[in-house]
Amino acid sequence: MKGIILAGGAGSRLYPLTLVASKQLQPVYDKPMVYYPLTTLIEGGIRELCLISTPADLPRFKQLFGDGSRFGVSIEYREQPRPAGIAQAFLIADTFIGADNVTLILGDNIFYGDEDFHRSFVEFKSGATIFGYHVNDPERYGVVEFDADGRAISIEEKPKRPRSNYAVPGLYIYDNTIVNIAKNLLPSARGELEITDVNLAYLSRGRLRVNRLARGFAWLDAGTSSSLHDASAYVQTIETRQGIKIGCPEEAAFRNGFLSLARLESLIQNMPNCEYRDYLNEVVAEAKRV
Ligand code: DAU
Repeated sequence: MKGIILAGGAGSRLYPLTLVASKQLQPVYDKPMVYYPLTTLIEGGIRELCLISTPADLPRFKQLFGDGSRFGVSIEYREQPRPAGIAQAFLIADTFIGADNVTLILGDNIFYGDEDFHRSFVEFKSGATIFGYHVNDPERYGVVEFDADGRAISIEEKPKRPRSNYAVPGLYIYDNTIVNIAKNLLPSARGELEITDVNLAYLSRGRLRVNRLARGFAWLDAGTSSSLHDASAYVQTIETRQGIKIGCPEEAAFRNGFLSLARLESLIQNMPNCEYRDYLNEVVAEAKRV
């Protein structure tokens, strides 16, 4: 399974924050926003990654992540010259995907919850797996409708009159037919290659699975000033209460066996004295105790 982080777009809803640093580089409490989706992919066991962003922002992501070896993964970079739609990611990353299955995650989506969630990646075989999450404001999202047996029967992008409260989060797992599906998409009325059209293509073939995320699960998108603030407050609350970190890719890589204990220890040596370093030292100390 390959993984794509889509971290482009104009970030206009966060202006003037985004004048010098893109949306996905803004802080969500104690780390850059893009750390969270990176961690989700690592937790899902994905080691070969591609990050897509604008020509102007890509150098900063390269500075942040390098070749990915710090996290026990490989990261390639691709440019999206202008935001022509989420589904364009599969055309841009065509040669990166090759003959593999692929997961796409949006760079401003934060997922936090139970271990079951990661099984969707590990157990994926073919077709498409997306998620449904109960929200208060479904009209802001792709919306999925279920029949009485819990099967998905329709998906609409930002409908004025949503048929359910289930939004489709920005995390999509596809088999390799995605590349062909993306090649045959036509731009929507707003001129974009829509991810919802991709999901509809799988739905019409009877190949779409929609996993409903549990009530206790947190899905946050940090695309507006207030949702950015809410996401920070959420992360701070959980981290302070539990003494754990959300969105810590080094920890996820270590727990998944992508980084050895010795490698993690040497990475920590190169970090400045800070709370992040103290936390990782705790992770190491705990691993040595058991
Ligand atoms: O957050 C989940 C929602 O994301 C889904 O429920 C919707 O079905 C999906 O269309 C999308 O809706 P948004 O309104 O959030 O899409 P937006 O255009 O804001 O793009 C989401 C992120 O993807 C954003 O951080 C910028 C990035 N992006 C977007 C486009 C269209 C790119 O990097 N390139 C693009 O071409």
